[in-house]
Amino acid sequence: MKNFKRTLITSALPYANGPVHIGHLAGVYVPADIYARYLRLKGEEVAFIGGSDEHGVPITLKAKKEGITPQDVVDKYHGMIKDSFQKFGISFDVYSRTSAKIHHQTASEIFKTLYEKGAFVEQTSEQFYDEEANQFLADRYITGTCPKCNFEKAYGDQCESCGSTLNATDLIDPKSVLSGNMPVMKQTKHWFLPLDQYEPWLREWILEGHKEWKPNVYGQCKSWIDGGLNPRAVTRDLDWGIPVPIDGAEGKVLYVWFDAPIGYISATKELTPDWTKWWKDPKTKMVHFIGKDNIVFHCIIFPVVLKAEGSYILPENVPANEFLNLEGDKISTSRNWAVWLHEYLEDFPGKEDVLKYTLTANAPETKDNDFTWKDFQTRNNSELVAIFGNFVNRTLVLTDKYFSGLVPEAGELNDYDLQTLDQIGTFKTEVGKSIETFHFREALKNAMEMARLGNKYLADMEPWKVVKIDPERVKTILNTALQITANLTIVFEPFLPFTTEKLRGFMNLNKMEWSDLGRTNLIVAGHKINTPELLFEKIEDEAIQAQVDKLLATKKINELEQVEVNPAKSNIEYEDFSKLDIRIGTILAAEKVAKTKKLLKLTIDTGIDKRTVVSGIAEYFDPEKIIGQQVSILVNLAPKILKGIESQGMILMAENKDGSLIFVTPATKTEEGSEVR
Ligand code: 2FM
Ligand code: ZN
Repeated sequence: MKNFKRTLITSALPYANGPVHIGHLAGVYVPADIYARYLRLKGEEVAFIGGSDEHGVPITLKAKKEGITPQDVVDKYHGMIKDSFQKFGISFDVYSRTSAKIHHQTASEIFKTLYEKGAFVEQTSEQFYDEEANQFLADRYITGTCPKCNFEKAYGDQCESCGSTLNATDLIDPKSVLSGNMPVMKQTKHWFLPLDQYEPWLREWILEGHKEWKPNVYGQCKSWIDGGLNPRAVTRDLDWGIPVPIDGAEGKVLYVWFDAPIGYISATKELTPDWTKWWKDPKTKMVHFIGKDNIVFHCIIFPVVLKAEGSYILPENVPANEFLNLEGDKISTSRNWAVWLHEYLEDFPGKEDVLKYTLTANAPETKDNDFTWKDFQTRNNSELVAIFGNFVNRTLVLTDKYFSGLVPEAGELNDYDLQTLDQIGTFKTEVGKSIETFHFREALKNAMEMARLGNKYLADMEPWKVVKIDPERVKTILNTALQITANLTIVFEPFLPFTTEKLRGFMNLNKMEWSDLGRTNLIVAGHKINTPELLFEKIEDEAIQAQVDKLLATKKINELEQVEVNPAKSNIEYEDFSKLDIRIGTILAAEKVAKTKKLLKLTIDTGIDKRTVVSGIAEYFDPEKIIGQQVSILVNLAPKILKGIESQGMILMAENKDGSLIFVTPATKTEEGSEVR
């Protein structure tokens, strides 16, 4: 075990092309924040780094779609994201952004150093080019028909209909998103990082040297390495990003995944002029908090960049999380299937810790997990309110009531008191060990055990009864309960910092250190506590239902958008069409056909005659309300008996995406019998 002096904690830089949601929080920022707060509480030197990832193709596409510049896009979302993190108490020491000047300089320098060391391989290849827009096309700038499923709007890298990964050259009938034209192939030069050359080193460093990494992380690294690594282009033909800083590379920028992790270094420079101690001193332990889709970039590509550069430390651990789903479905920005942090803050003000509690208790540490509003409510009502809050509230209220808020002196402790206080002594090591090994769920569960212990102690001791027979004994009980309460302000500090601050306020206590955890004399006799208030409040069914309804509405919109327009039927000749005799008619009478849900019996004036038509429109129309309605009617359809009624023709209806029907009528009132052709 190496002896580290300080810890550099990085958290994945979110793309500044949308706000952040609960998936971001659960996967990366909450665990990273718990880790940072815990280490600080232990008195260790910590730098917790965050920032926005502001380059890449999706940002340019979003800008184009909205008719604004990429800088406008990132300015908007960087501000929103930073604000959400701050309000949730994510305790970054610095929150930077990759469009910052310091970052452009840092990334350019690292690229140049690698270039001068001969670390890149130059390669010319053919790529799609839009001759009208005069630019090479990134994969996302090309759409066409998917060769696997024939979906007509597949992207150059992926078909969103069948999910296949594609090469832009696979697309049938490729089109440029910029001009709509067919792109041509043109030669272009790029710089590649020869990952294959680093394979023996990666095997040694990860597969031999870091067997302690989480199984999901280690396993992904192993399968990448065993699958054979290929050179990877670190430049792109694009006009948004960091210009490639060498001659002959005009119009090219660094690949977003080359510059983004370097953002951690730039942000550290922004934090302190003494940044090298964080990045170049082997006594610094670097830990990357990321989601599982970022593993290859943080475990293979970025380390290869750092190794090639030569003067940087490498990550000691990369505790990547799996994904969080929402009510059974994958969280998706484009489908608006998410709980957005800025909306949560508005809907549940003052309940930041409740969300963090739920996300940690149900963190996707070893497998994908599901967030449900019901679970959120249960965690709040049955755990935070009923256990933690209940214990604290009873302790403080009784102290206020029996002793005017002055901490009573403990008398002689009985076995149960001693046993309870002994157990309080075990949390420092247990919770600490879980946090240090990145088992945050387990750590929180364990911390909650302390509240349970206190709650059970009080319930068993029943000071509200004892007070009538042995008032002296109540002093000992409440002193013990108050020591537990004071310990709760420490053990929960990494997880629920707003709550512990509030609780310290109630108890009139200063912030303590992790080393104080387990002490049974944290609060002295005679200390005055403040008038207690509630620590947590119940969340009612209506608030939960409102959130569920919001998601149901989103689902409905998504389903409607997914319904595709049927493709055109094959061509017919005019003679085929002319066989149809369609007239304008007027409904004279309408009634429901007995024992059916869908059928109406209509009497229609066709101009030729008055006839009966049975029509399947009953679900959408009230018979009384359609009297006088003009319709288009196919009058020469062979009669047919439906439910014992002869139907003489068919009225024409248009069908909406959701299956609802509307009449096809003349734009203005027309004589019955007019021909439609
Ligand atoms: O996956 C993402 O959201 C990326 N923007 C993460 C970048 S992490 C780091 F490299 F900056
Ligand atoms: Zn497809």
